[in-house]
Amino acid sequence: MSLVDSFEKIPVQIFADDKIASAHVAREIADLIRQKQKEGKPCVLGLATGSTPKTLYKELVALHRHQGLSFKNGITFNLDEYYPIEPNALQSYHRFMNTHLFDHIDIDKSNTHVPDGTIDKNDVRAYAATYEKKIELAGGIDYQVLGIGLNGHIGFNEPGSGRHSGTRLVALDNTTRLANAYEFTSIAQVPRLAITVGINTILKARKIVLLGWGIHKAPVIRKSVEGTVTDHVPASFLQEHPNCSFVLDEGAAQELTRFKTP
Ligand code: F6R
Repeated sequence: MSLVDSFEKIPVQIFADDKIASAHVAREIADLIRQKQKEGKPCVLGLATGSTPKTLYKELVALHRHQGLSFKNGITFNLDEYYPIEPNALQSYHRFMNTHLFDHIDIDKSNTHVPDGTIDKNDVRAYAATYEKKIELAGGIDYQVLGIGLNGHIGFNEPGSGRHSGTRLVALDNTTRLANAYEFTSIAQVPRLAITVGINTILKARKIVLLGWGIHKAPVIRKSVEGTVTDHVPASFLQEHPNCSFVLDEGAAQELTRFKTP
């Protein structure tokens, strides 16, 4: 590691663009799925929604269609879902996952899990505990895919979320609602709440890969990778994980000290 890279407390891989980066991550996931198939084991994936992983899901669908990659041993757990929301609503993350991935691969849909945005408020606590339990019973997450919010959130763990937080109902930051308003007719339509897995849930994954595209993400990427670990920037907790890496395009990497002050 060079002197400049030593500012970075999380390994960072930088690619020319999001498509090339996504193809790299898709190959890594495919290798893991195939290795688990050889061992006769399930492959447990933690998945994200939003604009960032769309290119990754395209690559995974292409690997299924053109290279025979099977997801029959796949078990998936999504990070989050708006609350309340019906699963067939245009903006629901259930629908997002079907549209972008599950409808196009051979995964058994009963092995896919997205937090339920229709659960009664009184039952959310018990539901959240069950979601965590299901992850445990599946053997824990082998490979967790993350995006990052402009405020450093991972899942919907907004600033202030604790290192030991678990799956729960949270209030969305107004900045997050604004960033996601494009999916709705107006910001007023964006739900104020969401169900998200916690920071602790995420950190239990055996491997974590955070994807980041575009210069708008560059400042928060720098804070997460080079800054102090703080609940003001939830992604900074990833510095405490022994097997986490950030996969970035050139834009998202441009605020790192190695480029800013070479
Ligand atoms: C979504 C999620 C969020 C997003 C983040 C970035 O499941 O967990 O943390 O990854 O809000 O969103 P995009 O990719 O739309 O910039």
